[in-house]
Amino acid sequence: MEKKPLTWMNFPLPVLVFLSFCLLSLASAEKKTYVVFMGKSQKPASFDDHAEWYDSSLKSVSESAEMLYKYNNVAHGFSARLTTDEAKSMENQPGEAVSELVIGVLDTGVWPESKSFHDDGMGSVPKSWRGECEPGTNFSSSNCNRKLIGARYFYKGYEAATGPINVSRESKSARDDDGHGTHTSSTAAGSSVKHASLYGYASGTARGMASRARVAMYKVCWLLGCVSSDILAGMDQAIEDNVNVLSLSLGGATTDYFMDSIAIGAFGAMEKGIFVSCSAGNFGSRSVYCLQLCTVDYHRRCRYLGP
Ligand SMILES: *[C@@H]1O[C@H](CO)[C@@H](O)[C@H](O)[C@H]1NC(C)=O
Ligand SMILES: *[C@@H]1O[C@H](CO)[C@@H](O)[C@H](O)[C@H]1NC(C)=O
Repeated sequence: MEKKPLTWMNFPLPVLVFLSFCLLSLASAEKKTYVVFMGKSQKPASFDDHAEWYDSSLKSVSESAEMLYKYNNVAHGFSARLTTDEAKSMENQPGEAVSELVIGVLDTGVWPESKSFHDDGMGSVPKSWRGECEPGTNFSSSNCNRKLIGARYFYKGYEAATGPINVSRESKSARDDDGHGTHTSSTAAGSSVKHASLYGYASGTARGMASRARVAMYKVCWLLGCVSSDILAGMDQAIEDNVNVLSLSLGGATTDYFMDSIAIGAFGAMEKGIFVSCSAGNFGSRSVYCLQLCTVDYHRRCRYLGP
């Protein structure tokens, strides 16, 4: 099937990493090129301008490091050649932008007790944040913290398609009864968790790509799937709440963009300067099973629910 995707829709996950992670390695030599994103509004008053602040930040981790570029429009920050150690200390510089970044995730909800959402060492919630932590079944507003800064749920389209939610089967709240949303949101922005392992295998530190970014969960997927009207409402609200990045690991069969509510929502978000990362889906272009929107990863979710 011949497709002509809009390029910004088609970015693979590493591009999300590029935007949300403050240090990006671009080469494998001894010194590597790193892109350092700075929080524009966090420039200390002692510096006359941002260029001076960036120079000073770089000098504080390396006398000899050479700045390659300063960025003022696509993002705020600079690129420089650094050793791994220098890059690490750069991460700890004040003004490092990532902790100001909010990733809105549309998915099956979140398990707030997961250690990946601990907020140790995180500063206060960004001032620009407008979101909320909505209470519901087995979920209270105190389940949010400085890492998980928002949790909302969208069910009207789902209930219209399937009937009232049976709360003894699934939580009518942002609680993740499935695990998928907890997995995707902690992969994007989970805090560092030491001594993690898979039943004793592969032990080490688990962390998300942007471990200092904030997470806001928009639950739009339920036991039987996710419907377009809820997904669009989640995207609409996330934009209103001021997320910086939207991450959607859900989708069904491909359709024309003017018919695809995620594409339409993503376009609207892009126009507001929000980066949108969408998964490609599990079925490629040959799917005959998946007629409408459904989460990836589980065949059982692939069920037409209507708009
Ligand atoms: C409700 O949340 C608690 C964690 O606070 C969890 O242990 C329990 O299994 C949850 N119950 C349901 C039905 O999801
Ligand atoms: C809700 O789910 C429970 C547990 O599966 C079931 O026993 C009950 O009959 C369901 N209620 C309705 C109204 O379907």
